[in-house]
Amino acid sequence: MTIVTDQQSIIIFDTTLRDGEQSPGASMNLEEKLRLAEALEAMGVDVIEAGFPIASIGDFEAVKAIAERAKSSVICGLSRAKEADIQRCADAVRPAPRHRIHTFISTSPLHMKYKLQMHPDAVVDAIRHSVGFARNLVEDVEWSAEDGSRTEPDFLCRCVEAAIAAGATTINIPDTVGYGVPTEYAELIRSTMERVPNSDKAIFSVHCHNDLGLATANSLAAVQAGARQVECTINGLGERAGNAAMEEIVMALKTRADIMPFTTNIKTESITKVSRMVSSITGFTIQPNKAIVGANAFAHESGIHQDGMLKHAGTYEIMTPESVGLTKSSLVMGKHSGRAAFRDKLLQMGYDDPDKDTLNKLFTRFKEIADMKKDVFDEDIAAIVDDTAMRSADRIQLISMEVKCGTVHRPPHAHIEVSFDGDTIVTDASGDGPVDAIFQALRDAIPQHTTLELYQVQAVTKGTDAQGEVTVRLEEGGKTVQGQGSDTDTMVASAKAYIHALNKLLVKREKTVPDGISV
Ligand code: KIV
Ligand code: ZN
Repeated sequence: MTIVTDQQSIIIFDTTLRDGEQSPGASMNLEEKLRLAEALEAMGVDVIEAGFPIASIGDFEAVKAIAERAKSSVICGLSRAKEADIQRCADAVRPAPRHRIHTFISTSPLHMKYKLQMHPDAVVDAIRHSVGFARNLVEDVEWSAEDGSRTEPDFLCRCVEAAIAAGATTINIPDTVGYGVPTEYAELIRSTMERVPNSDKAIFSVHCHNDLGLATANSLAAVQAGARQVECTINGLGERAGNAAMEEIVMALKTRADIMPFTTNIKTESITKVSRMVSSITGFTIQPNKAIVGANAFAHESGIHQDGMLKHAGTYEIMTPESVGLTKSSLVMGKHSGRAAFRDKLLQMGYDDPDKDTLNKLFTRFKEIADMKKDVFDEDIAAIVDDTAMRSADRIQLISMEVKCGTVHRPPHAHIEVSFDGDTIVTDASGDGPVDAIFQALRDAIPQHTTLELYQVQAVTKGTDAQGEVTVRLEEGGKTVQGQGSDTDTMVASAKAYIHALNKLLVKREKTVPDGISV
């Protein structure tokens, strides 16, 4: 089923679950993918690229499970220009009421010569065949010219015409390596749409990477040139420097509607919640000065700015914090607060109404935190949700731990009890410091060949009783994963973060794209 769009509305195609998950370090398990897909649909995403079904059994199952639960969003899967890929993709997306196959092949001289080792004529034949094959399986087919921005314009037009003739309903011209600049990229989109005789039979789409920090600018320039679909990710997650950030595209269109009269279906009030969810799932912290979703994006520190803000918020704010779903950081409640008040707070913060079981788990954890911490803030609640609800399906879980360290002449020691697929494992280890001892105990408990690449601690809120949020990055055989954990005890947060990363590694170990071709 093809999406019908009028001239002024822009289709938001989110690829956090596919291109975003390809980020070094990011990987998601099935439960996390389902939770994110549900949030993306609820926030009004038109097309969700749910994964690359041929990449692994896990990817196939995840795309299929997302498709089975989808209601309004189009569920899309990626495939190379090969029948086996396309068939697998069709099988995965088919359960969704609205579904799409996205097939691609490289079209730039460099990619065709070195990566594909194919003559341009053979590439055009492959386009005709792959798009035609896909179109026989589903009605909604997107074709992408990988490395489109470095493709010779005449050849690009030839490929696009062939793809549309074979049945493609969306044509995507990616800036795969983030090489384009806004004027040049916009011109490429404009001239391709003008020159290709059957261009009116397809919607033109853009997919920009951020290698030069121009992904959002290039996407917006392309929209002004005629593109009506923008491919993007939450928090700009994606290969290398990432993709165009959805929150930036959507808020730029909303804030500057005076010169860009376009609308999207995104409920912008969901942006902060979904951004936090992606950060917590992937373990990728958001830089404080990140546009729209960074912790400082609506903070005013200097006296002059604060004075201006008190007189009129418009002096230094071009959009309201509420428009992106940011509620003022407020004192929530303490240890005497009840379950109903806690549930109300979750709803007020934009979370879905939890089922009884989840509410019980969250409330128990809230009580534990409230016992250890005088004041519980919104940020603490967000950390509790991330840590408790999101990790319940993980294969490795922390049961208990004890660490001994101090000025005594004994090496720091950690005693850890974890469960792995339901089996309990207990280990003891010493280390150069308490964190080293914890990580050593976890290395002994779970078979792995990992190297610790990053260990980072930051406080969730102010104060000495603040929860510590730890980020851990592990590398194994060229694959990297990140994990996050929070707790009022930084040692416990460290163990949780390491375990979170190990759970991601279990997912990542399964994933290989056949023929060693990456996207
Ligand atoms: O960056 C890219 O070119 C891609 C395509 C597969 C659309 O991700
Ligand atoms: Zn990409």
